[in-house]
Amino acid sequence: MRQAVISRYGSPDVFQMREAADPTPAAGEVRIRVRAAGINFADVLSRLGLYPDAPKPPLVVGYEVAGRIDAIGADVTGFAEGDRVVALTRFGGYSDVVVVASGQAFHFPPELSDAEAAAIPVTYLTAALALYRMAALTPGETVLIHNAGGGVGIAATQLARLRRATVIGTASARKHDALRSFGIEHLIDYTNANVPEEVRKITRGRGVDVILDPIGGPSFGASYSMLAPLGRMVMFGLSAAATGERRNWWTAFSAWRRSSSFDPLSLINRNRGVFGLNVGHLWEERGQLTPLMEMLLGELGACRLRPVVAKTFPLEQVADAHRYIQSRQNIGKVVLTT
Ligand SMILES: NC(=O)c1ccc[n+]([C@@H]2O[C@H](COP(=O)([O-])OP(=O)(O)OC[C@H]3O[C@@H](n4cnc5c(N)ncnc54)[C@H](OP(=O)(O)O)[C@@H]3O)[C@@H](O)[C@H]2O)c1
Repeated sequence: MRQAVISRYGSPDVFQMREAADPTPAAGEVRIRVRAAGINFADVLSRLGLYPDAPKPPLVVGYEVAGRIDAIGADVTGFAEGDRVVALTRFGGYSDVVVVASGQAFHFPPELSDAEAAAIPVTYLTAALALYRMAALTPGETVLIHNAGGGVGIAATQLARLRRATVIGTASARKHDALRSFGIEHLIDYTNANVPEEVRKITRGRGVDVILDPIGGPSFGASYSMLAPLGRMVMFGLSAAATGERRNWWTAFSAWRRSSSFDPLSLINRNRGVFGLNVGHLWEERGQLTPLMEMLLGELGACRLRPVVAKTFPLEQVADAHRYIQSRQNIGKVVLTT
């Protein structure tokens, strides 16, 4: 098999291709010939050495793949060789062959391409856990989605619209037309505007019911200030820690340090809720994730959701794919193809 390896921490140039023997599936596992692998911002952070979960280099990152099953271990039911599946991986996804526990693989609707399927797991599971489970979004509520043009942002917009919520999104200005066409009613160019002030104007001073914030640093405190009574906010990232192609300890440290803590008395007296989410720590929670993934695949099959793939890159051009994300060009998910 071929894999894209992070040889050491640093700029996208640290990626190297390597060949290795194909893995053999053990009992309960399936082997997948990968056609497409999703890229997540966590992979960028891992490359920079800013992602605490990631093993040390040399390292193959990647949380999700789509392809065809080509070998099946003992005791696996429900899958046959040749089945098209999408699967969750915990690292190792930037490969043209992966082995996963069969419980981490799912058949996907035939209308979807492999690249679209690889764009599903992390984005839609994160967005669904944040909006439907944690924030328990109800029809008519207002949601503020930061980083609305990213993979999670677009999935969250679709899920919020499915619940008939009003969406306010923050993104750089050149993404606004596309995001409006995806159903975002109010867009804020966070690079120029005072976001809390704009949100106050849009909501006539009331604030928003639900906020999804993966930016971190000063953004968490600002988001908290924008919550309406009974508002809920989900924190799920620290994009603010990665401002360049190389690691900058000072930026990373100040983003972490400025990620405010929340005073319990303020939460009580203001009737607000704050959640933290890391979907990568839930891969083993089959009882929680499987029904959610099946619900999402059902909605995708019924065409009520549709992954947006910004661009695909061949696996060996993974460095360009990371540069594309870090230069903020993507509207939607960036996917590697084999
Ligand atoms: N905790 C979890 O379970 C979980 C799961 C998935 C994702 N996440 C987090 O959610 C966030 C979005 O992930 P994603 O995969 O959807 O992102 P993505 O598709 O890679 O989005 C990249 C976009 O993020 C915006 N951005 C904001 N700060 C940035 C920075 N410092 N450097 C580069 N781009 C920046 C840019 O859009 P603009 O042009 O609008 O600035 C850029 O186009 C990340 O923080 C990620 O770690 C967390």
